[in-house]
Amino acid sequence: MEGNPNIVNFTYSVCKQMREGANGHKGACLWFEGLSGAGKSTLANGVESELFKKGVKTFSLDGDNVRRGLNSDLGFSESDRIENLRRIGEVAKLMCDAGLVVTAAFISPYKKDRHLLRNLIGSSFFEFFVDTPLNVCEQRDVKGLYKRARAGEIKNFTGIDVPFERPDNPDMIINTVNQSIDQSVSLILDFIWPK
Ligand code: PPS
Repeated sequence: MEGNPNIVNFTYSVCKQMREGANGHKGACLWFEGLSGAGKSTLANGVESELFKKGVKTFSLDGDNVRRGLNSDLGFSESDRIENLRRIGEVAKLMCDAGLVVTAAFISPYKKDRHLLRNLIGSSFFEFFVDTPLNVCEQRDVKGLYKRARAGEIKNFTGIDVPFERPDNPDMIINTVNQSIDQSVSLILDFIWPK
């Protein structure tokens, strides 16, 4: 538990800097946020694929996958989303400490949670807002979830009956309407490389 005086960190001989040195690059967390259907996972996948080709040690964390495993006990109430992102943030931080470049694709609808993530992960955290408008996401409706949410079959659906709070100061805003996936991936790589 945080602040428990009976828990004392063990100092390992191998540290983050040594792992980064062995990998030949820094650890980082590339966080993709935005509405369901905005294109977060597609972009994260494109970025990870390009980094992997360059020999970067990568890992992807994704909403649907994490919610089937680590966070299978959580739903979509505000408190469950907070806990969802808190756990994912801690995992992403461990992966950064392991010297990996982690892509994380989560709706992350609330400003305060994104702020906590930035504080937790620190200078290794980069925030990409996938700014696809609701009407476009709803038109795409790849998973058919918007239709069900509009019909009242899914409650607490982001953008429909619960909000998505736009970020004030992300590291990059990505326009998936006027820009192809490949163009967006290139812009992201230009931004992070050679960090
Ligand atoms: S959050 O808000 O960051 O905790 O959400 P996340 O972990 O990214 O999970 C989003 C995916 O869950 C599916 N889904 C829903 N999304 C939003 N609201 C509700 N109520 C909901 N129910 C299920 C949906 O497939 C999301 O995936 P993406 O990839 O974002 O479309």
